[in-house]
Amino acid sequence: MTGLAPRIGPEIAALLADPATLGELVREHGSPVNIVLPDVFAANVTAFGATLDARDVPHRICFAHKANQARAFVDTALRTGIGIDVASGGELAQALRAGFPPGRIEATGPKGETFLEKLCAYGGLTVNVDNLWELETIARLAPARVPVLLRLSAGRRLSRFGLAPADFPAAFEVVAGSERLDLAGIAFHLDTADLAERVAAVTVALELVENAYAHGLSPKVIDVGGGFRQVHLDDPDGADAYVQRLREGLAGQGPSLAWGGYTFGYRVGRDGAVRGTPVFHRYTGAEPGTTMLGDLLDATLGDGRTVAESVRENLLELWIEPGKALVDQAGITVATVQFTRRAADGSLLVVLDLSRDMVTPADQELMVDPVLIHNGQPDEGCEAFLAGNLCLERDMISNHLVRLPRLPQPGDLMVFVNTAAYQMDLSASGALMHPRPPKVAATRRGGVFQWRADGGDTCSTSTSAS
Ligand SMILES: Cc1ncc(COP(=O)(O)O)c(C=O)c1O
Repeated sequence: MTGLAPRIGPEIAALLADPATLGELVREHGSPVNIVLPDVFAANVTAFGATLDARDVPHRICFAHKANQARAFVDTALRTGIGIDVASGGELAQALRAGFPPGRIEATGPKGETFLEKLCAYGGLTVNVDNLWELETIARLAPARVPVLLRLSAGRRLSRFGLAPADFPAAFEVVAGSERLDLAGIAFHLDTADLAERVAAVTVALELVENAYAHGLSPKVIDVGGGFRQVHLDDPDGADAYVQRLREGLAGQGPSLAWGGYTFGYRVGRDGAVRGTPVFHRYTGAEPGTTMLGDLLDATLGDGRTVAESVRENLLELWIEPGKALVDQAGITVATVQFTRRAADGSLLVVLDLSRDMVTPADQELMVDPVLIHNGQPDEGCEAFLAGNLCLERDMISNHLVRLPRLPQPGDLMVFVNTAAYQMDLSASGALMHPRPPKVAATRRGGVFQWRADGGDTCSTSTSAS
């Protein structure tokens, strides 16, 4: 046991329990392949909506499209009545193609003049403005009134995004002085699970709403961004113990679990101490994103009211922009074992037909064990490093030892679970002319899986009853 066993939601569990269907799907679409599960996305939307409804908070949920490029998720976001957060011309085009009315689209992220001009052309589309230059550019370019959110640079860590609180008076002046700008509200986004930081940001945002009234403006929205977590691992304590063993190995106080001297971003001192921040984020959160949102809504502000009460009583609307939490448990990446081999130091390498960048943002070590789908009986198992198919030394899918229930055989499938958030898309490239894995959207009806190429019309149905 490595302690890195994945948390497997019911829909993914049903797919893994049906190797015949997985095999059919891979035969039809090739390997590697990304499978996305729009019904899981829809259930996540319902759970977020229920968390807000339970506290009677007027709200809008915007799916942060950047988490995954699948059209199936965009279609499901449209069908479930939520909004969409787009951060590029490509994402905007896909949202419009899917049928999103501009009034349900919000644009975030850094925007150049060309993108801003395009955004301003769609009446009712909300621009989440990152800086004064964007604000002034919209005021200059917009053919008609544009609803804008002003993004606050919040959180303890320095951020390249947003306006400092001290910049807001100038921003309010620009809005108040322009007929093309309509202040919809104040926004922020934090990349942390820290509740206190988020509550502090809400406090500042509410103060800025008050300040905006003093400038004759009437904002109606507080947008708390995304950052709601996923649950990746089944046993957070076991994972912490694995990381501890990994560190002991680096310090020479235990067996090495690392490939070829890799240090995972840690610095190993001459004194044997292991310091620094590793190149994997904390996969070990045990709370789903909806719990994080509930905790935020129930948190008490300085005046004794909860965040939910403040939003309601100030007649505001709360917007959220979840990316990863809406695609939690809504996708897997399937690859095929090509062969196994021994490296010169005796390490076992399992070589797959996908590259590291197709399953993790390439700078991040993937600290979640894959699931091996095989035809044989489990044997005593093995510990191996997973190697990718690029002709590059750095193309190791795991630089840490992975425990497998059996020595993999060529043709076995290796399934990476819960990869829909950023892992499938963010870094995937066509390096060395390997094609990017296709996406297939799968749904289960009456216990039987059906699938179609993402965005395609032709539907296949599993011939294996599950
Ligand atoms: C402005 C903004 N909103 C929402 C998100 C989505 O974040 P997450 O996927 O962590 O929910 C991001 C991610 O970078 C972001 O920058």
